[in-house]
Amino acid sequence: MRISIVGSGYVGTTVAACFAELGHDVINIDIDETVVETINDGEAPIHEEGLSELIAAHTAPNGTGRLRATTDYAAVLDTDMTFLCLPTPQNDDGSIDLSVMEAGASQLGETLADKPDWHTVVVKSTVVPGSTADAITPILERESGKPAGEAFGVGMNPEFLREGTAVHDFLNPDKVVLGADDDRALADMRAVFDPLVEAADAPVVETDTRTAEMIKYANNGFLAAKISLINDIGNICKEFGVDAYEVADVIGLDDRISEQFLQSGVGWGGSCFPKDTRAIISAAEGAGYEPAVLNAAVEVNDRQPERLVGLLADHLADQRDHRVDGAKIAVLGLAFKSGTDDMRNSRAIPVIEDLQARGATVTAYDPVVVDNAPNYVDDVTYADSAAAALDGADGAVVVTDWDEFAALDEEFDAMETAIVVDGRRIIERRDGITYEGLTW
Ligand code: UGA
Repeated sequence: MRISIVGSGYVGTTVAACFAELGHDVINIDIDETVVETINDGEAPIHEEGLSELIAAHTAPNGTGRLRATTDYAAVLDTDMTFLCLPTPQNDDGSIDLSVMEAGASQLGETLADKPDWHTVVVKSTVVPGSTADAITPILERESGKPAGEAFGVGMNPEFLREGTAVHDFLNPDKVVLGADDDRALADMRAVFDPLVEAADAPVVETDTRTAEMIKYANNGFLAAKISLINDIGNICKEFGVDAYEVADVIGLDDRISEQFLQSGVGWGGSCFPKDTRAIISAAEGAGYEPAVLNAAVEVNDRQPERLVGLLADHLADQRDHRVDGAKIAVLGLAFKSGTDDMRNSRAIPVIEDLQARGATVTAYDPVVVDNAPNYVDDVTYADSAAAALDGADGAVVVTDWDEFAALDEEFDAMETAIVVDGRRIIERRDGITYEGLTW
């Protein structure tokens, strides 16, 4: 099929490259000329494992490959379907901000006014239940001057990619969710996903757009709450001198619990869990329901960074009456998880802010996040290695589970006071350091 994809973020670009890999003709539409040029040059505009290889394989000089990019919405006219992969940020009160989606739908609708034949529009962005039917579809109708279900169809297809493994996740889905409010849109969505469903032998769920939207929030909300629950249990374990990781390994043997997402620590971050949990809480409250468990999941997550800094403060107070005030603290890791250069909503941000509020000076090291860190935190010195960050430090906290931190050893000897508080269970306990795990 001929597919246009509006938005070249990590979802849009990954989906475009993977659809090309599955044999479709794909055009990425983005307002950012640099992103468009990068894709047309056969390179990936974002860092994702395996993505640059796919883009290189499917772009060709003069746009003759199965994948190309443009800034021009008119490209939609040469395609059968459009996927909207635009950002859905949050408003200050946590509710979803649909303005970028609405602007995209408006431009797409205007373009569809000139399309004589049927077209299917699929919302892929994470949007609260009802957004596709009640906000996006009316804009498409208004701008195209045509009725949905007759001149064009609308569907919703949530995405479950993780950053860092996005290409692998797309090509090996545990489910494909096709939400549509009319049969023709559903048939188009089936056709586009057929090669993937066959290759990956993935279960397909066909439903309406509202349910498809909710499935995405339920998926992310459940996972975020699972981590918060294991963090809550981990905090209890810590009070009783029990290792939460040993407990998690055993309860993970129960199929009903499963071993995944049971790593307790400093909590969840990134561009999705924090935003999505708040958006669905806000939408639920707007509809008159107070989601107690999701609210508690956010509360536990907000508390973990404070607990990490609190443990460090206790050790500093114990050892030679050090205080956090005036101490030099090394922060190991800035990315919201290992394998990505993304610092959005990283737990490193509240950890650093808390340390600074208590009067510490912070030297941070991350193997990947460097240049964009000042967009998220102020007054931080950036070291070019973990060893340099630890050198002369009065204490260290570990915020990201980068493998290279596991290999640290004599680097701790260069610390002024070798206190290490680990928020990710990545450092081994060893002689010569005061080691404290957040939940073990
Ligand atoms: C998440 C979901 O896992 C994807 O399915 C979803 O498509 C995506 O959001 C999205 O909505 O776009 P992602 O944000 O890339 O993906 O990150 P995850 O790998 O899920 O990790 C989220 C956070 O949870 C990270 O900060 C990680 O360190 C933390 N985490 C994860 C834990 O603290 N413990 C665990 O056991 C697992």
